[in-house]
Amino acid sequence: MPSKFLFFINIIISLVLILSPKPVFSNNYLSCSVRSSCGNISDIGYPFWGLDRPESCGYPGFKLSCSESELEITISSATYRVLAINKESQTLHVSRTDYSENLCPTHLINSTFESETSPFQQNGDSQDIRLYYGCQPLTAPQNLTSILGISNQFDCTINNTNIVGYYVTREFAGTVTGNFLRSCSNSVIIPVPNSQVPSLEEGRDPDDLEEAAKIGFQLWWSADDTRCNNCVNKGGQCGRNLVSGGFECYCSDGDVCSPDSKSKFKFKWKLFIGLAAAITIAICFVVLWLKRKWLPNQGNKNQDGRIEAFIKKFGSLTPRRYSYAEIKKMTNKFNDKLGQGGYGSVYKGKLSEDRFVAVKILSESKGNGEDFMNEVASISRTSHVNIVSLLGFCFERSKRALVYEFMPHGSLDRFIYDRRLHHQSCQLEWRTLYDIALGIARGLEYLHQGCNTRILHFDIKPHNILLDENFCPKISDFGLSKLCERKESIISMTCARGTIGYIAPEVVCRNFGGVSYKSDVYSYGMMVLEMVGGRKNIDVGVSQTSEVYFPSWIYKHLDQSMNLNLNGVILEEEEEEIARKLIIVSLWCIQSYPSDRPMMTKVIEMLQENLQSLIIPPRPFVSSPLRSPKSLEHQQ
Ligand SMILES: *[C@@H]1O[C@H](CO)[C@@H](O)[C@H](O)[C@H]1NC(C)=O
Ligand SMILES: *[C@@H]1O[C@H](CO)[C@@H](O)[C@H](O)[C@H]1NC(C)=O
Ligand SMILES: *[C@@H]1O[C@H](CO)[C@@H](O)[C@H](O)[C@H]1NC(C)=O
Ligand SMILES: *[C@@H]1O[C@H](CO)[C@@H](O)[C@H](O)[C@H]1NC(C)=O
Repeated sequence: MPSKFLFFINIIISLVLILSPKPVFSNNYLSCSVRSSCGNISDIGYPFWGLDRPESCGYPGFKLSCSESELEITISSATYRVLAINKESQTLHVSRTDYSENLCPTHLINSTFESETSPFQQNGDSQDIRLYYGCQPLTAPQNLTSILGISNQFDCTINNTNIVGYYVTREFAGTVTGNFLRSCSNSVIIPVPNSQVPSLEEGRDPDDLEEAAKIGFQLWWSADDTRCNNCVNKGGQCGRNLVSGGFECYCSDGDVCSPDSKSKFKFKWKLFIGLAAAITIAICFVVLWLKRKWLPNQGNKNQDGRIEAFIKKFGSLTPRRYSYAEIKKMTNKFNDKLGQGGYGSVYKGKLSEDRFVAVKILSESKGNGEDFMNEVASISRTSHVNIVSLLGFCFERSKRALVYEFMPHGSLDRFIYDRRLHHQSCQLEWRTLYDIALGIARGLEYLHQGCNTRILHFDIKPHNILLDENFCPKISDFGLSKLCERKESIISMTCARGTIGYIAPEVVCRNFGGVSYKSDVYSYGMMVLEMVGGRKNIDVGVSQTSEVYFPSWIYKHLDQSMNLNLNGVILEEEEEEIARKLIIVSLWCIQSYPSDRPMMTKVIEMLQENLQSLIIPPRPFVSSPLRSPKSLEHQQ
């Protein structure tokens, strides 16, 4: 096993690399420690970036540039001069760069801070005014003065064209002024400080507006400032993860540190813990490897001990443990095969001269034997006439076997599929079918309600129902079963369990609800329908056209008062009553939503009631699969 050893060494090296701290003083910490300055403004840090601070040290939208000693920021495509930055109040004093010289910029751009993602907000100290461009010149007495009582006309030369403009501090929509201003070709909104508005309204000089634009206004920002303050208090530098877009705190002694954690480990401690963990894991791997290599038997002994402890813990009636040699002898070297399945094979065996057993040999592939132990534990806890009894088991390394009581009539599927084709003697009377359905229901009820630990079978189907010499049914094959505490009604399952055709919809698709004992109820319903129909509900082997989804067909024919015509046999009155009862009960059981299905206790009650008192359930399927009901009637 040298390759395995190399693999462990590899893991150890990777772990050391992962767990050991990164180099001290990361680039991020250093580059975000830089404070920028431009003109009169200095000590510019988070959330601003640009200048000599990389993007990972700031927040989106806070990129600054410095042009001729003027600090500038661009917000929604309009460029502003930054006149002051106040980190405490998180405010920015700005003015429109393009309005600093005159009111006639080449490109007309609105000031907008309304976008939902914008980190900037106008505070209450400023007010929007609107500048109109390309208006018709007014002549006295029809000029704006006469309408508004104020003069606010200005003249511009934009792109070598002389144009007339007006500005207003309020909207005049719908008024004479509004109608007049609507004729202007363009308009722009810029904020001015509230303090300047009265002089603009009274003023007769366009210079007043130029002055107001130059004074500028305040913007309030928000950019993870609380987290940044926490980070700074810990000695970190604020920044942003450019991949995730989230806030990041760069600490001096590592790469990233959480701003929310109460305390941080010193670098030496981190290194120590990282190395200690790596060494411990390395030692564990080496010890495990040596153990596997040199002491293979001890490993198995440990496993055996675990199994014994498991069984002792879970079952008071611990079944007898057989050696593989005993199993071999019991089955006369696996001479008489009773059946074969995905799990393994079943052989007939002999405990004593007149006591026969069925020995199920499980395939060797299974690893830790968890399913096996589960099955042993599940059956060990049961003692019911309708559940097969476990007489013993064998667990020897990869060899696993279960010893059951022998059932002379084998499994139920032999009696229900294609009854028409079989010899008459193979058909079960309707009364017998009814007794079998009732017996299975009692067995399931016992599993669900009868023991302290609820057992969910998860693989109820005709193959797993064994019939004794009196056709008394016994539930077997607990390979997929689950033990769960009574109070946990919904269980979590990582993979779908069961057999197609019997598996409840919620086991496959969680939209239908949680997986619970009601999933067994569904499988039970599907099985009983097959017993009634004498065929598989979903016949996988049959071509699409001749295929009939039996539950759907039977539901359609149930409410008709005429006799049920099952497989071309006209039923007698008593038989018909039994058949209808079984159908109604099973249709209740196969309702798509687990909450609509009855508990097994209720199922038993319904089976024993009069047919007349049973309520026909709602259509149990959301939509029936692509199958035409006509084809079955044709066949008959
Ligand atoms: C710097 O500030 C002083 C007064 O505080 C001012 O006179 C000067 O014009 C400012 N310089 C720039 C480039 O803004
Ligand atoms: C001036 O011309 C430029 C391009 O030549 C154009 O983008 C701009 O919109 C024009 N300005 C106005 C106010 O028409
Ligand atoms: C507007 O009209 C008033 C009188 O009605 C006049 O005194 C003023 O000069 C006019 N303004 C302009 C810009 O034409
Ligand atoms: C500015 O905004 C106003 C109102 O939203 C709009 O009517 C005008 O066309 C905008 N101007 C420009 C240049 O986008």
